[in-house]
Amino acid sequence: MSGYHAFHDPVIEGVLYSSEEIADIVVRLGKQITEDYRGRDLALITVLRGGYVFLADLCRAIDLPLSLDFMAISAYGAGGGAVRITKDLDDQIEGRDVLVVEDIIDTGLTLNYLLSVLRQRKPASLAVCTLFDKDIRRLADLPIEYVGARIPDRFVVGYGMDLGGRYRNLPFLATLHDEVMG
Ligand code: IMP
Ligand code: MG
Repeated sequence: MSGYHAFHDPVIEGVLYSSEEIADIVVRLGKQITEDYRGRDLALITVLRGGYVFLADLCRAIDLPLSLDFMAISAYGAGGGAVRITKDLDDQIEGRDVLVVEDIIDTGLTLNYLLSVLRQRKPASLAVCTLFDKDIRRLADLPIEYVGARIPDRFVVGYGMDLGGRYRNLPFLATLHDEVMG
């Protein structure tokens, strides 16, 4: 096995989704998206930094011409869903079929804001694909067209997701010991 697996890291509790299970989910989502977007003008957009690992795998599971673009946002303090765009898209999305690719949706407040910004730019369509969904915590009512897996209300790391900037390079999705999260 190659890569970082954090075998001896006391913070990591266990594996919630293995890299093989994630790969199966990505293939399934890629096939669905390929069928749904055939003949359209697909633009995949992801939110840095968490979404980049999923995007890298998902885009190669979609058998269509497409473009990739990135945004970065930062939260204004804790909670409330107020966010600021720190890096905007490079490309125009007007008239295009935009699919926002997310690592995980929790309250949905971040995505809610992002979708309202993107909608103002008049894409032909706007949809969301998330790998993981903590839907029990949802505050914003969002239509999410593609969901990889619903997960319980636990803080998770790996496959792009971090704790204080670390663990993004774990090839699987891991849970943390409860004491870590307070
Ligand atoms: P929301 O606005 O509450 O939906 O938060 C969504 C964002 O918070 C995600 O795009 C992630 O970047 C981050 N996030 C939410 N839950 C987790 C988690 O369990 N681990 C790591 N990041 C998370
Ligand atoms: Mg994110």
